[in-house]
Amino acid sequence: MSASKQQYQSGFGNEFASEAIPGVLPAGQNSPQRVAHGLYAEQLSGTAFTAPRHSNRRSWLYRIRPAAVHKPFEPKAHAHFHNRFDEAPATPNQLRWDPWPLPSQPTDFVDGLVTLAGNGGAGEQAGCGIHIYAANRSMQGRFFYDADGELLIVPQQGRLKLATEFGVLEVKPLEIAVIPRGVRFRVELLDGEARGYVCENFGALLRLSDLGPVGANSMALPRDFLTPHAAYEDVEGDFVLIAKFQGALWTAKIDHSPLDVVAWHGNYAPYKYDLTLYNTVGSISVDHPDPSIFTVLTSPSDTPGTANVDFVIFPPRWLVAEHTFRPPYFHRNVASEFMGLIEGAYDAKAGGFVPGGASLHNCMSGHGPDAASFEKATNATVDKPDHLTGTMAFMFETRKVIRPTRQALEAPQLQGNYYECWQGIQKHFHKE
Ligand SMILES: [Fe+2]
Repeated sequence: MSASKQQYQSGFGNEFASEAIPGVLPAGQNSPQRVAHGLYAEQLSGTAFTAPRHSNRRSWLYRIRPAAVHKPFEPKAHAHFHNRFDEAPATPNQLRWDPWPLPSQPTDFVDGLVTLAGNGGAGEQAGCGIHIYAANRSMQGRFFYDADGELLIVPQQGRLKLATEFGVLEVKPLEIAVIPRGVRFRVELLDGEARGYVCENFGALLRLSDLGPVGANSMALPRDFLTPHAAYEDVEGDFVLIAKFQGALWTAKIDHSPLDVVAWHGNYAPYKYDLTLYNTVGSISVDHPDPSIFTVLTSPSDTPGTANVDFVIFPPRWLVAEHTFRPPYFHRNVASEFMGLIEGAYDAKAGGFVPGGASLHNCMSGHGPDAASFEKATNATVDKPDHLTGTMAFMFETRKVIRPTRQALEAPQLQGNYYECWQGIQKHFHKE
């Protein structure tokens, strides 16, 4: 059963109010002496109390038990989900990986997380972790929250049911979900197996990018971002709460479901977005705009216009620019670029970059179309439109160099021959 749009509230960063039982939300105040139905009032702040009003994010939760009620945390080992971005030298080499395999042993979302790369960290409140997940069973009796950053989840295969403190989000490939920092949730698999990508954002909260001259009605539109209605679990049992804190995992016993929020209001909540709704803007004369025109969400840094991380997509679109090289151009970039592919093919690569795979082009490392794509595009007829369909690539682009983890560099999925895709590029120079 898939979720219909009516199950969600529409808007980005809105002041939502949602009740699973009518009449729970207190009128005129946040924390009355007694909350209706014997609930506890608790604030969850996603920004500093004193953050400017336009960027201040918090919600009030009315719940069966406060979040403080659990046994002490103890360290939990996780072999391949971490924030150790200094284990291997950062490399200027172009890197590409085959898809991560689906597990053969029972593996849930948390166990199935593998860290491929990252920069910065929770301690410096900047940068991001880049992870793959590959899972074949739902989280059972386990709940997770990430105190280090918000989680941008990009499903590539299999639908996910994200049961959160704020309600339930269902996401499928070509949709994304964002779980805010600190929000507790459980991942259930609706198709038996699931694989995708996660950007763990340590920096400023993801937001919609500014629009400038393109105006109010292009790119990602606020009304297409969907937030769940309140839904609660009143369940007791022997459960485990898993926390990610300063790069490592911790577990605590908890004797009830922490998804016990009966009502909430505020502007700090999980959301999802359907990438196929993106209103793509491009050139109708000659040459490309820069790929920033495809930005869905951005985490700004302290430097205006220089993002901590941008989430950028390459969706289906018409290519109509004349006299131009239509695929993404050759370039080097002060930013660093991690790419993944959700479905189809990417128009700068003839092969090797497949759904579920990944590539990394770091600061000032030359990259762009492979030899086959270059030859095809330079000999193509460009007096008629091309229609790119059935494709969805994406990029996590960061201002800091993206450092691959040791496990990513040692994985058999790493393509040792990626550089060869440019070796066939011919010298065409002639003086006359
Ligand atoms: Fe690039």
